[in-house]
Amino acid sequence: MLKKVFFRKNTEMKQSMSKNDLDLGKLPQHVGIIMDGNGRWATGKGLIRTSGHKAGANTVKSILNTCIKLNIPVLTVYAFSTENWKRPISEVNFLMSLFSSFLAAQIDELSENNVRIKFIGRIDELPNNLAKEFHRAEDITKNNTGVKFNVAINYGGRDEIITAVKNIAQQVKDGSLSVEQIDDKIFEDNLYTQNLPPVDLMIRTSGDMRLSNFLLWQSAYAEFWFTKTNWPDFTPEEFIEALIDFQHRDRRFGGLDNK
Ligand code: FPP
Repeated sequence: MLKKVFFRKNTEMKQSMSKNDLDLGKLPQHVGIIMDGNGRWATGKGLIRTSGHKAGANTVKSILNTCIKLNIPVLTVYAFSTENWKRPISEVNFLMSLFSSFLAAQIDELSENNVRIKFIGRIDELPNNLAKEFHRAEDITKNNTGVKFNVAINYGGRDEIITAVKNIAQQVKDGSLSVEQIDDKIFEDNLYTQNLPPVDLMIRTSGDMRLSNFLLWQSAYAEFWFTKTNWPDFTPEEFIEALIDFQHRDRRFGGLDNK
């Protein structure tokens, strides 16, 4: 059950809003999540690490459903980094097949819920048929107009930036772009997140407080929210707590007020 929510535009209701209520008129436009703590969740229960990832997939579903209910425009989750290849091969293989089975099980519901899915990262370098399956899901949902759900797999923020720099340098070399034309917009057009709003709220579960190479450019002015809860135990209620906390941040973007 979601917490009681109030609509900002309804003046009567606004008067009765307290600091603990979610203001649907002031939601983040883009939420990023570093889904950490699956391994710790599992070992804490005497289970093998991979059962933590399996449980984590259920949390992905419930948080995505909350974004759908609340109409949060963009959700980007960090599922596998360019550094995660250092893990034991058995865990890597488990994760790859989990991504594949999650997609197969969820694609119809994603479509029905008007979700547009996109995979960001070096997708074409993934093993087996994964790239094909991911591109197929992107294609099936490409005309959906609801929540944009980005799944970062084989993703690294520095790698994304270097790739953008190379693309831009190539365009300058070809003569299709001048050095003077390079600005934030041109740069963003060369990122995986082109045409998406910047990250407003970045959540990381399980206690560590770092960005770990996730959405480096896009998080320039993000508000950060950390919890000790491991990802499999992260609930819609706690997600809403993070949203409410976000709504009370004083975002000045380098200015003197947030107007
Ligand atoms: C970090 O926890 C988590 C990952 C590297 C994998 C995230 C994957 C999922 C949540 C599975 C489902 C995802 C989708 C999109 C279906 P960790 O294993 O590093 O935790 P630890 O720090 O406790 O070891």
